[in-house]
Amino acid sequence: PMNQQDLKALVAKAALAYIEPGSLVGVGTGSTVDCFIDALATIRHTISGAVSSSERSSERLRSHGIAVFDSNTVERLPVYVDGADEIDPAGNMIKGGGAALTREKIVADVAARFICIADESKQVQRLGRFPLPVEVIPCATAQVARALDALGGRAVLRDGVITDNGGRIID
Ligand code: A5P
Repeated sequence: PMNQQDLKALVAKAALAYIEPGSLVGVGTGSTVDCFIDALATIRHTISGAVSSSERSSERLRSHGIAVFDSNTVERLPVYVDGADEIDPAGNMIKGGGAALTREKIVADVAARFICIADESKQVQRLGRFPLPVEVIPCATAQVARALDALGGRAVLRDGVITDNGGRIID
């Protein structure tokens, strides 16, 4: 039987089918994407590089000899590949558990297509088992937490976490 790591490797490899030869690839963040980056390394000579949603992914890409470009220098990406934290039957998702959520939206917006890679543990009937992460600029933390509580949430600041953008995460 396949374990979760095997499934991550499998979906990561399947995503290679969507990569256009000669193109730049949009790359997300997380343990599933780590598998995708490793798979991408096997075809690195067929792509011109990557744009990534985090420093963590950028480092892994570079360690495989894949060139990483700033999203500001790229006008269009054919494909953005990223994981998810929860996916409901309609395809709605909670994303951002890895705290790279603002940058991933920007890379995804540059991309023509979003390919989500996930193992079956991410499938839920209803979103909400995983807390919704919100990235906040530091000076807004307390006020945004109050606003989320007023909406009926229970805002919890992720202790000691500073994002790549210098932001804080509220779950
Ligand atoms: C990255 O911030 C997220 O959007 C991903 O959805 C998420 O963290 C996936 O991580 P895993 O592949 O480790 O579950």
